[in-house]
Parts: sequence; structure tokens; C-alpha cells
Amino acid sequence: MMIPVPNPFTPKTGWEPKIIVGRDTDLEFFSRKLYEARRGRCDHFVITGDWGMGKTSLLYKFKELAQAAHIFASLVSINEFTRKNSDLDGVKYLIEQIPRRFPVPLSQLKNFMKEMKALDVEVIGRGLIFPKKVEGIHPQTLLTDALLALWQDIQEHSEAGVILLDDVQNFQPISGLFTILKNALTDEQIIKETKFFFILSSIPSGWEKFQAKHHPIGRYFSPRIQLQKLNKADMRKVIQSALEETGVEFEEEIIKRVISHAEGNPYQLQQVCAGLYDKQIGGKVSLIKKIEPEEDIF
Ligand SMILES: Nc1ncnc2c1ncn2[C@@H]1O[C@H](COP(=O)(O)OP(=O)(O)O)[C@@H](O)[C@H]1O
Ligand SMILES: [Mg+2]
Repeated sequence: MMIPVPNPFTPKTGWEPKIIVGRDTDLEFFSRKLYEARRGRCDHFVITGDWGMGKTSLLYKFKELAQAAHIFASLVSINEFTRKNSDLDGVKYLIEQIPRRFPVPLSQLKNFMKEMKALDVEVIGRGLIFPKKVEGIHPQTLLTDALLALWQDIQEHSEAGVILLDDVQNFQPISGLFTILKNALTDEQIIKETKFFFILSSIPSGWEKFQAKHHPIGRYFSPRIQLQKLNKADMRKVIQSALEETGVEFEEEIIKRVISHAEGNPYQLQQVCAGLYDKQIGGKVSLIKKIEPEEDIF
């Protein structure tokens, strides 16, 4: 029996697409900003895009680019917070998640661990349990001190610390956190002594309120890069490159329909193609018969 080649399409977030298309400008922008960050000018920015537009995939790429330049990068996917949570919960989350995603074990982050110990934070594996008493500390102080300690640990290994926060709209119920983050990053000591470079991603509605004219958060995390729809030629490239070496072919008419259906959204493109790939017969995906209405094939 012929063993079919595994489905080459990547509709799940976290599955790296075979090629990333249409993001050259964004990648160049990041490289330029990373260069500036290494020289001490951290120009934090935000990426917005609807579901499936490729925010997570782009952040992964940023992380790869940073690591290729031997720069520490930590990609944190923000949890969903509720109104029952406080700004402090958000800060605790960041303090727990950022260090554990750097490419060294927590035990090597000596200053950070010392700082945690001084607060009686319990370390279990790579998780942190904060004692009740931290509620008496202002979250901004907690975040600033944790970042300062963390910088002391990584500065001998890395020229900057890239921190990628994915899906920050999940912070919406505790949106005071953005002010805390901004204030921590504009703390004099943080600016003088550290090179943390933050990149945030959000769905557009999650960032809307910060886009009001001269809003301090929108102004601070700027520019805002709005992820663009993929153009037809790029979508075609995605399909062709995925199908390479699979022995499977999509008929031209199918490709055209898929491209028009996806409307430039990479997730939709990957998802429809993954479905069609699974339905291949003998290595071919074609319009076997005229199906009405047209939408049925998807
Ligand atoms: N630029 C791109 N080129 C090709 N495929 C992409 C691109 N961006 C994303 N994808 C694919 O689309 C899917 C959705 O992307 P994702 O990064 O999860 O979107 P978002 O985080 O904005 O919801 C991913 O599984 C990935 O395979
Ligand atoms: Mg995502």
C-alpha cells in the first residue's frame, strides 16, 4: 500500500508554514528595529491583525531572526484574563512566563532567582508561586525590579532581550497592565541599564481604544503594523510550495477557487487546502463534477 505523504498544509497555530509569504517588509522592519535595540534604542511596537492573519507565525519568525543573531528572545502567548483578575495577576504572569522562555534554565538566571527568593516566591519546576505578601507591592515596582534582575542575568549572553507578547487583547479585562508595562519600560533605570525590546500582537478590536489620538499606550507602542492580506501570487506560492514533493496536484480551477475563497487570510488558505489535500484521489484534486452551489466544495 502506498503511504500518503502527510498533509503539508498548516492550518493550526503553532504549525510552522512551509513558507512565510508577504511579510518581507515586516521582517525587514523587525531586523532594523532589532539592530537599534542592540545599540540601546528599544522602539517597542505592536502588530495587529484579525484571527488567522498570521500574527503568531510572524512572531515566531521574529524570534528565529533574533536567535539567529544570538539574541535572547522570549515568546509569551497571553492567557485569557477575566474581570476577577487584577493588574498584579497580569504582572505575575509576565514575571513567570518571560524568563522561562529564554534559552537558559531558570537556575542560571541568578539575579532573577535571588530577587524572587527575596520576595519568598516559591519555585516549583519552572513555575513560580507568589506569596500573599506581594499584594502589598505595587505591580509596577514588581515588574521593574524583575526586569532589572533579569537583564543582569542575560546581558552577558545577549545584546538585547526580545520579548514577544502574543494576543495581548487577552489583557483587556486588566487593561491597566498596559500602563504598568509602559511605566516600567520608561523607568529611568530600565532605560539606562537594560535593552528589553517588546513586540506586542493583538486583534484590531483589542487595540482600538489605544488608537485614539495621542493615547499614551498607542503612542508608546508604535508604530502599529497592520498585517496585510496575502495577495493572489503569494497565496499561489504557498499552495505550490506545500505541494512540492508530495506528488499531489491541485487542478488550476481548484487553485483559483481556493485563492478567491481565502480572501487573503493565510489561515483560511491553509485550512481549505488541508481539507482538499485530504480528499485527493490518486494524487489529484480536481473538480470531478460540477457542484452546485459552488460553495459546496469548500
Ligand atoms: N505569511 C504567511 N504565509 C503562509 N502561511 C501563513 C502566513 N502567516 C500565517 N500562515 C499560516 O496561517 C495559519 C494562521 O496563522 P497564525 O499565525 O496562527 O495567525 P494568527 O496568530 O494571526 O491568528 C498558520 O497556521 C500558518 O500556517
Ligand atoms: Mg495567534
